[in-house]
Amino acid sequence: MAATESAATGEQINISIERMTEHDLVEVCAIEEVSELSAWGWDAYHNEMQSRLDTIMLIARHDLKSQQDQIAGFIVARLYADELHVNNVAVRPEFRGQGLGSALLQTTLDEARKRGAKIAQLEVRAGNAEAQRLYARCGFTVVGRRKNYYRDPTEDALLMSLSFSDLAHKSQGFRGPFGQTSS
Ligand SMILES: CC(C)(COP(=O)(O)OP(=O)(O)OC[C@H]1O[C@@H](n2cnc3c(N)ncnc32)[C@H](O)[C@@H]1OP(=O)(O)O)[C@@H](O)C(=O)NCCC(=O)NCCS
Repeated sequence: MAATESAATGEQINISIERMTEHDLVEVCAIEEVSELSAWGWDAYHNEMQSRLDTIMLIARHDLKSQQDQIAGFIVARLYADELHVNNVAVRPEFRGQGLGSALLQTTLDEARKRGAKIAQLEVRAGNAEAQRLYARCGFTVVGRRKNYYRDPTEDALLMSLSFSDLAHKSQGFRGPFGQTSS
């Protein structure tokens, strides 16, 4: 578990990165809704969770007693042979800018590397500068552009990629869900 500070109240928060379970999906869908992501919805996350051994689905759980919701963010990724594809990552607006997105992504990359991933790829809206900064900070670079890839609103996607062999090991000291404590 790692400590951070609530931007809203200044309270100390402990965050742990955990595997997502079925019980988390209502909150995950609520975060998806406020994050303007392409909507997967409960069924799609549930199917992903049930049917795939090669998925990495994580949540960031906080311990603030003052909040009814316990999940501050989540990430969903899948391994196709030695290629990791990051599908969705989102953090509740009030918890952004405190390193949670980076912790979720870095934990996913660490786990994918352990499972033999050689590269990681994702698409991101061309106008989503915050997400692009997060990905760049974790080692992704832009390798292509997909014209009009997104709908509602229509927008190009940037294709971003990283090669695990080029990546120096970085982590943020969050306790991981796979038994390791990053250091
Ligand atoms: C993209 C997203 C997941 C980033 O999450 P986040 O938790 O805010 O990400 P981080 O906190 O790790 O990084 C954001 C900023 O906080 C800063 N930061 C990191 N750790 C910090 C800490 N401990 N204290 C203060 N600031 C910190 C980072 O330097 C970064 O700043 P920068 O963007 O100016 O470089 C979030 O903005 C989001 O949910 N967006 C909507 C959904 C979305 O677009 N998802 C991506 C497409 S699928």
